[in-house]
Amino acid sequence: MTERILIFDTTLRDGEQSPGASMNIEEKLKVAHQLARLGVDIIEAGFPISSAGDFEAVRTIAKTVEGPVIAGLARTKPEDVARCGEAIKPAKRGRIHTFIATSPVHIEKKLRMTKERVIESAVAAVKQAKTYTKDVEFSCEDAGRTDWGYICEVVTAVIEAGATTVNIPDTVGYCTPWQFGECIRHVRENVKNISQAVISVHCHNDLGLAVANSLAAIVKGARQVECTINGLGERAGNASLEEIVMNLKVRQDFYKYDTNINTNEIYRTSRLVSQITGIPVQPNKAIVGANAFAHEAGIHQDGMLKERTTYEIMTAESVGWTGESMVMGKHSGRHAFKKRLEELGYKLSDEEINRAFQRFKELCDKKKDVFDDDLYAIVDDELFKGKETYLLEYLHTSSGTSTIPMATLKIRKGDQVLMDASNGDGPVDAAFKAIDRMTGMSVNLEEYGIEAVTGGKDAVGRVRVKIAMGGRKARGRGASTDVVLASVKAYLNAINTLLIQERIQVEKRGM
Ligand code: KIV
Ligand code: ZN
Repeated sequence: MTERILIFDTTLRDGEQSPGASMNIEEKLKVAHQLARLGVDIIEAGFPISSAGDFEAVRTIAKTVEGPVIAGLARTKPEDVARCGEAIKPAKRGRIHTFIATSPVHIEKKLRMTKERVIESAVAAVKQAKTYTKDVEFSCEDAGRTDWGYICEVVTAVIEAGATTVNIPDTVGYCTPWQFGECIRHVRENVKNISQAVISVHCHNDLGLAVANSLAAIVKGARQVECTINGLGERAGNASLEEIVMNLKVRQDFYKYDTNINTNEIYRTSRLVSQITGIPVQPNKAIVGANAFAHEAGIHQDGMLKERTTYEIMTAESVGWTGESMVMGKHSGRHAFKKRLEELGYKLSDEEINRAFQRFKELCDKKKDVFDDDLYAIVDDELFKGKETYLLEYLHTSSGTSTIPMATLKIRKGDQVLMDASNGDGPVDAAFKAIDRMTGMSVNLEEYGIEAVTGGKDAVGRVRVKIAMGGRKARGRGASTDVVLASVKAYLNAINTLLIQERIQVEKRGM
């Protein structure tokens, strides 16, 4: 059977140390449940002594999240270990992760201790942690800049004291993959009791080598990797979970190790963490970036359509990504265009494709990338112009500080002119309510966004909406110098698209 690499996720602890990434308890709990679905082996839920909120978060996660081991971080100080022990107590399987720095600069300048005293403190903390749980991890902070002989001394002592996992962090992201791999080999070959513990690594990304260093360590004997979703973490971040896991999976021929990760949950987890922390994922980020599976060059698109593996080493679906895989642009050919429309659910005649393709090429001259939304607009415009169900004929709104916002509208449906008025929380809400009544459609407004297309007080406002009804979703756009009018246009546009979809039975993907 293939050996398994343990995935220790520290998004909620080291990841949360990213500037601006702090999460409240409810958000941490959401992420923890998703990490459990993802299949991580260990969740480091926080640093209980650091704040009452962190203590509560670790305790709540320990109480409610099932599956992974729940770990808390503690310095080697007795009060840290005790607080951590309390926090992880409700977990079915809890771990205390205690650490102290071992590099000369940290020992001399930060801790102001002797090397002997550091070992004593580490041993005492591990022994104390053992009174709370049998699962104790010890980390040599800044091991990447620590003499290997001293690392071995510390590691031997903490294993003797009961540590079941020994972690070798490259805390400042200083190591090279060759050097770091050798360090792990040295520990594996020179620590006499190493068979009693799992070797773990924890790499930071200051020189962009966190993933490479972690993989080099696995090759030389590490069996646990510490990592975070989207590579979040202190400064330049930690090794990214998704990159490590997909390296092991895609290049199983080379590494020959498995993980417990359900890779179909990767994309969802990445999105959730990004949404909650408000830290966007860079578009060209491996595995989870918006462009990770996007093919723009015509030659690539053509190759992909003939045989996917020409330009793809893994499928977007294997990481749970279901969005568009081709960014259409001026390099895209008719073949790719037709295929994308089919994927979006349009079954068009050759003549219709030709007309739409002509419009697409015109758009490409004005716009570098053409996304699915643009394609919907082209097809809807080209093929369904004049087939809209509802057309706006009249709009009047009133609002202000001492009046109830009101909207009166007339919309045309074929030969029929419908008219209604409504009040609402504002003029836009009032207008949407009146439209709902006239169309008799029970539409759910899922997204509403407004932006100024041009500058100045007379700027054109562009409104984008996304609506849903009975399992179908549609987007709509509207532009005007009057933002209420732009909103009404966008809303009607989305409703018309929804009705067109119903008529031609399109299945829009990725909405
Ligand atoms: O980077 C580091 O050394 C750490 C330790 C606490 C494991 O985060
Ligand atoms: Zn760290």
